[in-house]
Amino acid sequence: MIKFAEINEDNYEKVLKLKITDEQDKSKFIAPNVRSIADAYLYREAGDVFPYAVEDGEAVVGFILLDEDAEEKELMIWRMMVDKDYQGKGYGRAIVEKVMEMFESDDRFDVLIADYVKGNEVMGTLLRSLGFEEQEFDEENNEHVMWYRS
Ligand SMILES: CC(C)(COP(=O)(O)OP(=O)(O)OC[C@H]1O[C@@H](n2cnc3c(N)ncnc32)[C@H](O)[C@@H]1OP(=O)(O)O)[C@@H](O)C(=O)NCCC(=O)NCCS
Repeated sequence: MIKFAEINEDNYEKVLKLKITDEQDKSKFIAPNVRSIADAYLYREAGDVFPYAVEDGEAVVGFILLDEDAEEKELMIWRMMVDKDYQGKGYGRAIVEKVMEMFESDDRFDVLIADYVKGNEVMGTLLRSLGFEEQEFDEENNEHVMWYRS
């Protein structure tokens, strides 16, 4: 059972140490977690960007950055990753499912958005299997933009 925990003094170093595979890194599937924490700091006054450590018991297995846009009624998985040693064990699916539960139980949002870089078929297949559909291909960022509506 996973938990989204706020970044704090206890889990911060562990989040920074999480690694994706060399191949995922070379393919630039996600920015480093330190960048995501910096992004969250940048938007702190708006209070709509939320970085979380993904914890399973004592272990920090991954990271997620959520972005809320109440005006557009959109909740977005800005970034998510599972440490290479924990990949392929169901954590990625559990993370997306947990965000879907948050989305379903929050009537501020009409759409849940997630995107992935072209070629990241693990993420694409995962999102499609959970009911996300492609909304557009973002040429500028080379990303498929996926939408889920309840
Ligand atoms: C995408 C990512 C989060 C998936 O995490 P994960 O914990 O490995 O995912 P799961 O174990 O829940 O697997 C999800 C599905 O993908 C499949 N899968 C996982 N790794 C795979 C691999 N290397 N090759 C083929 N299939 C794979 C699983 O079999 C599973 O399919 P199923 O649910 O139909 O059985 C992880 O690969 C990752 O962190 N990638 C780098 C960062 C990234 O791409 N983030 C997304 C965009 S921001």
